[in-house]
Amino acid sequence: MNETLRLHYLEAMGIESWYSKNASKIETPTENRTPCHQVAPMQPPLAKPEPLAQPILTINDNWSQLEQDVRSCQKCELYPTRKQTVFGTGNITADWLFIGEAPNETEDLQGIPFVDNAGLLFTEMMRAMNLTRDEIFMTNILKCRPPNSRDPHVNELNQCHDYLKRQHALIKPKIIVAVGRVAAQKLLKTHEPLSKLRGVVHTFDQTPLIVVYHPAYLLRSLSQKRAAWQDLQLALKTYQQLPH
Ligand code: URA
Repeated sequence: MNETLRLHYLEAMGIESWYSKNASKIETPTENRTPCHQVAPMQPPLAKPEPLAQPILTINDNWSQLEQDVRSCQKCELYPTRKQTVFGTGNITADWLFIGEAPNETEDLQGIPFVDNAGLLFTEMMRAMNLTRDEIFMTNILKCRPPNSRDPHVNELNQCHDYLKRQHALIKPKIIVAVGRVAAQKLLKTHEPLSKLRGVVHTFDQTPLIVVYHPAYLLRSLSQKRAAWQDLQLALKTYQQLPH
């Protein structure tokens, strides 16, 4: 992504970048450097996380079997119209599991989640947290694109959910970030609006879960930029407070 667009995204999210006194260039975070984005004081989470425990695998599952099962899936009405399934990408032993809604046209073509415009902002959100796409695992609630990128149907969400649970059980992340309303509502089994779900530490199968605004929504509603950054800060703070 070009630097001007990247800075525009960060600015849109209300994330301030720090400049070295003597340098005219912006400092970007690298793997071993403290994040250079300003972190405002945190509000305490509204709910306490439940005690941590690793999810238990109830079946003799493995990653390649799971990939194969997703690739060949015909459980709902989405399979005839997909170009390919979008399983997820990143580090399969990651501490961070990011879960979005569903592939759209670009993801359906490329087979990779979060690669459209919203995906570029998603990558910038990662970078603002000093994370890279290679360090996390990212996937969606749905592994196939709904035609014309319509909202997912309940049956599609239900049929696909087992794949996500298996991914979660195999990855064993320390923290989950639900990206947007559809992912949050499905993972938390609720119809509460996103405004009620963010700002709280939830759990999914005993893993702490934070709800954040979807980058596609943020591209349309820049007034939420501060709130979006607060969500990311809550995720970071929750992660930092976990036993390591
Ligand atoms: N692309 C994805 O992979 N997921 C989303 O939720 C939106 C766009």
